[in-house]
Amino acid sequence: MSLRLAILASGNGSNAQAMFDAVERGALDADIRLVLSNRPGARVLERAAAHSLPRLCLDHTLFPDRAAYDRALADAIRGAGADTVALAGYMRLLSPDFLAAFPGRVLNIHPALLPAFPGAHGAADAAAWGVKVSGCTVHFVSDEMDCGPIIIQACVPALQDEDAGALQTRIHQLEHRIYPQALQWLAEKRLSLKGRRVFLAPAGGALAEAPAQALIWPPLEAGF
Ligand code: GRF
Repeated sequence: MSLRLAILASGNGSNAQAMFDAVERGALDADIRLVLSNRPGARVLERAAAHSLPRLCLDHTLFPDRAAYDRALADAIRGAGADTVALAGYMRLLSPDFLAAFPGRVLNIHPALLPAFPGAHGAADAAAWGVKVSGCTVHFVSDEMDCGPIIIQACVPALQDEDAGALQTRIHQLEHRIYPQALQWLAEKRLSLKGRRVFLAPAGGALAEAPAQALIWPPLEAGF
């Protein structure tokens, strides 16, 4: 059965775009019920409009506190008939009550190899640290920020002749492949959890061509 998906994003929305594209080419079995932003004018809302997807802006500055905002958020998501939430550059913390409303159904992407460099500036922090490999992580969201069980990671070398921006761009391109893949595994009910370890049930299908100078694990499957 298709994922009934709500995508939450605060800004540009290139990861949301990758999900729209994966659905349209038939790789991701998801029904995008709602694209929601907390920022009026966020580019992600234009992207959703261009694909005629249901969209909503809930401006967090108009709510008295996080609890009230998150209640409205959960109501909007449920009202749209979504049961799975993909955070795609959503720059707000979610309350435990919100997460309890969608248990095991909230995913996030982070632009670093968690548990290293959590927080709002993971990619820049890793580059400034001088790491030799960096990457991105898709994980289930838990009450503690950037600490939930890891579904898939992509790593790339940090090249000494490139600046932080160039490294971030290469990582961003991998985000656009691993996030729709992780969602498809969820749609196929192939993910299970033992403690904080995520297990992927094998499907035996073809794999995607591996990107140059990158390690993605588990490997991407055809279509991603
Ligand atoms: C990405 O780097 C993602 O890892 C982080 O926020 C950024 C969102 O980028 N959580 P975009 O809006 O999807 O382009």
